[in-house]
Amino acid sequence: MEILEAIKNRRSVKSYQSRPVEREKIEQVIEAGLWAPSGQNQQPCRFVVITDSSLLGEIERELYRVCSMVKKLRPLIALFRPELRGEKGKRALRSIRERAFHGAPVLIIVGAMRDSSSTYHKDTAMATQNMMLAAHALGLGSCCMGWIGALNSSRRARKLLNLPKGFEITNAIVLGYPERVPKAPPRKTLDETTTWF
Ligand SMILES: Cc1cc2nc3c(=O)[nH]c(=O)nc-3n(C[C@H](O)[C@H](O)[C@H](O)COP(=O)(O)O)c2cc1C
Repeated sequence: MEILEAIKNRRSVKSYQSRPVEREKIEQVIEAGLWAPSGQNQQPCRFVVITDSSLLGEIERELYRVCSMVKKLRPLIALFRPELRGEKGKRALRSIRERAFHGAPVLIIVGAMRDSSSTYHKDTAMATQNMMLAAHALGLGSCCMGWIGALNSSRRARKLLNLPKGFEITNAIVLGYPERVPKAPPRKTLDETTTWF
């Protein structure tokens, strides 16, 4: 698959078959993450793979519980999180769903130890995009989980996943064979987004 074609044709898949994903394919996806660039090649990214359906369900329920709390406390949290202010903040929180994982059989959490590198947020984001492109090349669907960071403050989730102190979840993707691949949402144009000198 051509890289430019893969970049344009990858979609955020929001409905999955229950068919499990082969371990080799999951490993290839993570391998693609490991080949992403990282500041000073520190390679701070760590991955937590969940394929156990009962644990997956527990994590999904815990995420919903924590996110519902954020929703309730929005006016307070918005004091120090400007992105949660006003209509935009309300809209962002409206996207929180009970079935956040869209029925996917695999969740891969991406994170790093907070003291591992000064660029771990960027490094883990780059790894995540590589992983989604690799999933696409392998015939899998994937979707980024925007609210997953809410689990950092959940003692229950940290215990279930055995996360060490100082470990920060920065991203996560769900992975699986797509039931349905959505149409590409429109993109802004170069003219709207680019300044040339
Ligand atoms: C940082 C980030 C967080 C996202 N969070 C979610 C999410 O929590 N749930 C979801 O269904 N999609 C999520 N998405 C997927 C976006 O909805 C999707 O990327 C966007 O609509 C563009 O569609 P496309 O990826 O198919 O091009 C997220 C994407 C990014 C980059």
